[in-house]
Amino acid sequence: MKAVAVFPADKQVRVIDHPEPSISSPTDVKLRIIDVGVCGTDKEIVAFDYGTPPAGSPYLVIGHESLGEVIATGPGVKTLKKGDLVVTMVRRPCDHPECVACRAGRQDFCYTGDFTERGIKGRHGFMTEFVVDDEKYMNLVPPDLRDIGVLVEPLTIAQKGIEQLWQVQSRLPWACPIEPGQPSQYCHKALVLGAGPVGLLGGMALIVRGFQTWVYSRNPVPSVQSDLCRSIGATFLPAAQLSVDDAAKEIGGIDLVYEAVGASSLAFDVMRVLGTNGVFIFTGVPGRKGPIEVDTDLLMRDLVLKNQVVYGTVNAGKQAFMDAISDLAEYRRRWPDAVRKLITGRFKIDQAVELLTGRAGGIKNVVSLS
Ligand code: BGC
Ligand code: ZN
Repeated sequence: MKAVAVFPADKQVRVIDHPEPSISSPTDVKLRIIDVGVCGTDKEIVAFDYGTPPAGSPYLVIGHESLGEVIATGPGVKTLKKGDLVVTMVRRPCDHPECVACRAGRQDFCYTGDFTERGIKGRHGFMTEFVVDDEKYMNLVPPDLRDIGVLVEPLTIAQKGIEQLWQVQSRLPWACPIEPGQPSQYCHKALVLGAGPVGLLGGMALIVRGFQTWVYSRNPVPSVQSDLCRSIGATFLPAAQLSVDDAAKEIGGIDLVYEAVGASSLAFDVMRVLGTNGVFIFTGVPGRKGPIEVDTDLLMRDLVLKNQVVYGTVNAGKQAFMDAISDLAEYRRRWPDAVRKLITGRFKIDQAVELLTGRAGGIKNVVSLS
C-alpha cells in the first residue's frame, strides 16, 4: 500500500510502498484511512528537525491527525464494528513499571519520555491506506462528522488544556455569578494567541463555554482568519496594528491566555499582561532560536502578587478525544460555514510531499485517501 515516509538519514521524503498491516491480536481493528491532517509537527518532521523512525526502520510513515473507517475487527473487539468512523489516538505508553502515568493509561503525562507516538516518534503513522491498532486507542466519530472528523486530534490539544483549567481554577472562587441564560464562563475573558488550526479550534472551544474571546494574530484584516473569528463571535486583534499592551488595554483583565503560535518571544511578552488569578496555557513547541531578553523580575512579581498559573500541555487522553468529538458537532451546529472553512484544501497522497515541503497557506490542509 502507499504511504508517505521520511528517511532522516538520507534526508528524503517520498511516497513509498509499505507493507499492509493485518489484525494480529483479538482486540485489533483495521481501518481504511479517509483523511490525514497536516500540521506544524509534520512540517518539522519533513524538515528533519523532529521525528524518529521505529527501531530498525530506515523510515517513518508520517501522519498523526486522522480519520478512518473500520473495515475489519478482531474477535475480541467490543466497541467498534465495520463501517464505524474513528479517530485514533497518537501516543502509546512506555513500558517502565514505575511510570505511574503510563500505567494509568495517561501516557500523555508519561514521566520517562520513552513513550511512542504514531507518525512522530518510534511508530509509523496514518498517512497511508490502511492502519491497524488496538480498539482502546480508537474513538468513535458520528457519521455526520465524516467531512470534518480529521479536526478532532488538533482539537484535543484545547480540550486537554481546558480540562486542566477547571482543575487549576478549582483552587479559588472563580465561578461566574449565576445569570439566567448565560453560559458558565460568561464573566471570563480569554485571549488566544495565533489563528492557526490549534488557535481557531481553541477559540471555538472557549466560546462554546461562554468565554469572551479575543484572537491576537499576525494575519491581516481582512483575511480568512479574521473573518472566521468574527463569524464565531471572537474579536480579532491584528498584531501588525496593535501592540501587546494596546491589545491588553482593549481587553482589560485577561483571565486566560491560550497560546497557539509556538513563538516564545510573543508568549512571554503577553505573559506580562495576564490578569489577577489568571492562567497562561502553552501549547506551542518553538524552534530553538537562541536566547531573548525577558523581564523576569516583572513576571515573577506578577506570578506571586497576582496568583497566576502558567502551564504547558501536550498530547491528550481519552476524555479529551471524547470531548473534542462532541464539541465538533456543536461547532458545526453553531457555525457550519466557519467549521467548513477550517479545512483549506484536500490533496491526494501523490501530492502530499509537495504539500508537506511547500508553503501551502490557509488553515488546515488535509491529505484525502478515499
Ligand atoms: C501532536 C501530539 C504530540 C505532539 C508532540 C503534536 O503535533 O498533536 O499528539 O504529542 O505533537 O510530538
Ligand atoms: Zn498535529
